[in-house]
Amino acid sequence: MTGVVRFGVLGCASFAWRRMLPALRAHPRTEVAAVASREPAKAARFAAEFRCAATGYDELLGRDDIDVVYLPLPLALRPRWIEAALRAGKHVLAEKPLALRPWDARRLVRLAANHGLLLRDNFLFPHHPQHAQVRELLAAGRLGRLRAFHGSFCIPPLPPHDVRYRRELGGGALLDVGVYPLRAAQLLLGGDIRVVGASLLVDDRRGVDVAGQALLVTKDGVLATIGFGFEHSYECSYSLHGTAAAARLDRAYTPPADWRPVLRIEDEAVPLEPADQIAAAVGSFADAVLAGRSARHPAEARWCAHAVRTVELAEQVREMAITGGWRVA
Ligand SMILES: NC(=O)c1ccc[n+]([C@@H]2O[C@H](COP(=O)([O-])OP(=O)(O)OC[C@H]3O[C@@H](n4cnc5c(N)ncnc54)[C@H](OP(=O)(O)O)[C@@H]3O)[C@@H](O)[C@H]2O)c1
Repeated sequence: MTGVVRFGVLGCASFAWRRMLPALRAHPRTEVAAVASREPAKAARFAAEFRCAATGYDELLGRDDIDVVYLPLPLALRPRWIEAALRAGKHVLAEKPLALRPWDARRLVRLAANHGLLLRDNFLFPHHPQHAQVRELLAAGRLGRLRAFHGSFCIPPLPPHDVRYRRELGGGALLDVGVYPLRAAQLLLGGDIRVVGASLLVDDRRGVDVAGQALLVTKDGVLATIGFGFEHSYECSYSLHGTAAAARLDRAYTPPADWRPVLRIEDEAVPLEPADQIAAAVGSFADAVLAGRSARHPAEARWCAHAVRTVELAEQVREMAITGGWRVA
């Protein structure tokens, strides 16, 4: 390898156009070699913009100028194509979460490890240094003994034909936005956390959940509540509540690169440094490839374990949820 990691993109998704492809083009250690679409004209439009080859899904996996497949496909399609990419010998950066069901996520992680390849779910927010600063605050005892976490990711209704409203593609708010506060709770409270209560608001017409809440608890008795949905004014935050103080972070999961984060600890506003979490995520993946890592590397195995746990927790939320009787008009 030359010191530059070559990406192929499976699916000409809007998020790829708006965020991931510009980041891959801009980063000094990554380049875009090819994009694939079910529609040749769409692939050609993306290829012209990002100066790369245009191809189909199977053809992209057969190319030998691609080291990594970035996969922004709807959730229900991810396992099949993650597996195909790994079997074609490519590292995989897949949109989050990895799969609808925990057994499928575990299977994919095993496959990556057995093939000596990398597999990450593309949660971007853990790459922003603001969360490390929150962890330092906790470790230093600024909040006293931690008693509770609350995380929310809520957005206004999406366009009616959005893939997130399509049941057959794995749509729904829990697996699209609910997984962010779930993952934040995992990262800040530790993996030993389980779901003890949940409710989902199901849009009966579409057959997908559009809002929900869950209550989780750690082994040490720290309580976590999460809220999520597609039917709300925008909220993207978490707060931590200790015996001595509470801290709150807004725009916690999707801060733009120029966003100046502020950590609020009681009445004090602590300014934090802005950071480009997409560039950081892309750079971190490229560095892992260049370092010859696979899913067996301890840091990668940890990321994979978190990725699997997110899918397990989401399944626990679904199982706990009382869906009967809730209807959207
Ligand atoms: N990590 C993050 O921060 C973040 C943020 C936003 C979104 N995302 C993720 O990015 C992914 C794409 O979201 P988006 O808003 O960009 O959606 P989108 O524009 O609808 O993209 C989905 C793509 O999947 C491909 N696809 C393959 N089979 C399909 C099918 N049967 N129906 C529909 N599409 C199909 C399509 O590509 P072709 O037509 O080219 O084949 C389509 O462009 C989602 O999985 C979402 O979770 C991640």
